[in-house]
Amino acid sequence: MGNDFIPLKIAGIGYSVPKTVITNEDLTKLYDTSDEWIYSRTGIKERRVVTGNETAIDLGLDAAKKAISKAGIDVNDIDCIISAASVPPQLYPTLACTLQAKLGITKTIPAFDMTAACSGLIYALQVARGFIGTGIYKTILIVAADNNSRITNWEDRGTSILFGDGAGAVVVTASDDGVDDILSIDISANGSIGQMIYTNMPAHNCPLVEQADEVGDGLIHMNGKEVYKFAVSTVPSYVVNCIEKSGMASEDIDYLIPHQANQRIIEAIQNRLNYSDDKVISNIKYYGNTSAASIPIALVEGVEQGKIKLSSTAVLCGFGAGMTWGAAVVRLREGIC
Ligand code: UT7
Repeated sequence: MGNDFIPLKIAGIGYSVPKTVITNEDLTKLYDTSDEWIYSRTGIKERRVVTGNETAIDLGLDAAKKAISKAGIDVNDIDCIISAASVPPQLYPTLACTLQAKLGITKTIPAFDMTAACSGLIYALQVARGFIGTGIYKTILIVAADNNSRITNWEDRGTSILFGDGAGAVVVTASDDGVDDILSIDISANGSIGQMIYTNMPAHNCPLVEQADEVGDGLIHMNGKEVYKFAVSTVPSYVVNCIEKSGMASEDIDYLIPHQANQRIIEAIQNRLNYSDDKVISNIKYYGNTSAASIPIALVEGVEQGKIKLSSTAVLCGFGAGMTWGAAVVRLREGIC
């Protein structure tokens, strides 16, 4: 970076999950499966789901309020909102615009959704870093929120065991002490393997013309085996490269906070870094895969449970549909959550 690139501060982080728990045992009412099969292959025991009229908007709002409070800012200090939902409850108005209104922001700031599926948090962090670093905006609210349970095919035991609902939010600002909380960050994609996970919008052509061969069903479709192979072959070495770019040695980084997609994928990254269990934050057992929200949920819950001590450093990594992936080495300041 040039000398005049403005450093970024991670000022506040929050998360929110729905109250309703669906256990592996509950899923046996839907199809032929077992707690043993699901837990041994994924590390998941239960997940949270929205009920009634609750959506990712409620979760995102709750997470955003917590992040804003921890950052100690007023909602009108926010210059820009970036939402990173995989499938927002409404395509438009965007989740970001809806949150702008619900947070009571009276300024007409930019607010937009940015989709990179489960890598969304890292992608949004990189976009925010560009805005802050070049002086375009000073204070940005990032919100990752998904109600995966509403786009899950509950007849497909290969995918519906994995996903859960949740939200995470991060307030980033121009750093006031010259310290950059992002020591390195990288994002990447390979669209040529994008069909490993897809959700097609239910949509029809004009009735006056020929119809498309297939109409989307708005549900998650996934080739689990291929996604698994992609994740374990791509992500561990990518994380190692990101750490090298930070100028830190992997052993000097305090925590690995990975996207929570499958415990076996988390362990593949852990093994590559040669990290002991206490350095690796995993809560997939209780939440499943909450898309881009999984990293902030794991981070804040890790602090709440005393697994993470602040005034530390962490390597974050995400991967998912696109296929997309990203990693960042970050500083976790005292008081951010
Ligand atoms: O953000 C990225 C999100 N996605 C991921 O990270 C997904 C990564 N992939 C995975 O986690 C794994 O591929 C799964 C856990 C989804 C599936 O595990 P797998 O070992 O790849 O199983 P499989 O799909 O190859 O299925 C093996 C067998 C099949 O039976 P047959 O054909 O061998 O008789 C499936 O029908 O297991 C059966 N099966 C199940 N059995 C009991 C599939 N799902 C279930 C189930 N319960 N829920």
